[in-house]
Amino acid sequence: MTKTPVAVLGATGAVGQRFVSLLADHPWFEVAALVASDRSVGKPYADAAPWIPDGAIPAACASMKVEGVPSLTSPEKTPIVFSGLPGGAAGPVESDLARRGFKVFTNARDHRMDADVPLLIPEVNADHLDLVKRQQGPGWIVANGNCTAIILTLPLAALHRAIGVEELHVTSMQALSGAGAAAVAALDVTDNILPHIAGEEEKLSTEPTKTLGRLEGDGVVPEPIPIHATCTRVGVREGHFESVHLRLKRPATLDEVRQRVAEFRGPPGVQGLPSAPKMPIHVLDAPDRPQPRRDREAERGMAVSVGRLRLDPDGRGLRFVVLGSNTVRGAAGQSILNAEYARAQGFV
Ligand SMILES: NC(=O)c1ccc[n+]([C@@H]2O[C@H](COP(=O)([O-])OP(=O)(O)OC[C@H]3O[C@@H](n4cnc5c(N)ncnc54)[C@H](OP(=O)(O)O)[C@@H]3O)[C@@H](O)[C@H]2O)c1
Repeated sequence: MTKTPVAVLGATGAVGQRFVSLLADHPWFEVAALVASDRSVGKPYADAAPWIPDGAIPAACASMKVEGVPSLTSPEKTPIVFSGLPGGAAGPVESDLARRGFKVFTNARDHRMDADVPLLIPEVNADHLDLVKRQQGPGWIVANGNCTAIILTLPLAALHRAIGVEELHVTSMQALSGAGAAAVAALDVTDNILPHIAGEEEKLSTEPTKTLGRLEGDGVVPEPIPIHATCTRVGVREGHFESVHLRLKRPATLDEVRQRVAEFRGPPGVQGLPSAPKMPIHVLDAPDRPQPRRDREAERGMAVSVGRLRLDPDGRGLRFVVLGSNTVRGAAGQSILNAEYARAQGFV
């Protein structure tokens, strides 16, 4: 199988670096262009990127010259563009690329809630990929939800589809790498918790309902689950942790809840893709798990870990915590899985 050449936009950032590290030995894709801002253009990638992931910068990329957005002239050269651009800057750039025939897989917020853009997690809403046919073309945009939303949506989908979820409260404890390569000043987070992250609570309250929604007519009808979110920043390097309290639509037993979450799988066309985890959700029974340092790498960062499952005596109030890698399942790994699914389905 020939490899599809891809461009990474925002390649020097936290998400861009994760793309570069995950694509290093990818069986279907190879990095052909690394794109960033004017600050980095012309520099060797190793000099422009303040490398964060464990391990060395992949040798094939280290000496590549960073390019600017205008260098992306031909969708024949890089049909797929993975975007790790900041919100705001991303919107017009990604629209323009799609108009010129590129297939864009983005992590930025700008197009997430566009009616014809899927907020894709193939294990949850593979059918939403069809939405790209409604875009004006010849290229199109597929979006990832916010990192915290993706991590929450997996166990929420498992429970909502099997039992039904009436309402949900969530408090996130989000890692420093979620704030980008420049991150948060160490002195702001050492011995401290920041009780607000601009824009995050709105995204966490709305994006899972679009991903879980029904494809109908010209768009997605969101699933009407009220989600009440509080998002905080904590001094963890990588891995968003979320404490969830939800109300089930009918009484269940703890055994049923555990089984429904642990047995959650994507459709057959998703299982077996190069980046798909064998089990998207790991259920951990030890009372001191999951922990960011121990569990963020589950299935190369593509599985989320659920623990501390507790059911109220009425069988409907359920509490648990969920942890996932914000830059892998919450960003670059999710985009790569989306692109694998699109390629396997003949969209690329
Ligand atoms: N970090 C996470 O865990 C995470 C998770 C999910 C989604 N996201 C989203 O992913 C996107 C990237 O986040 P990040 O954390 O990787 O941010 P980041 O570390 O600040 O990186 C931003 C990247 O975009 C480049 N850039 C900035 N302005 C540009 C422009 N006008 N033209 C071209 N390139 C430009 C930067 O290049 P220079 O280095 O040259 O300035 C850098 O490569 C954001 O939309 C964010 O909301 C992040």
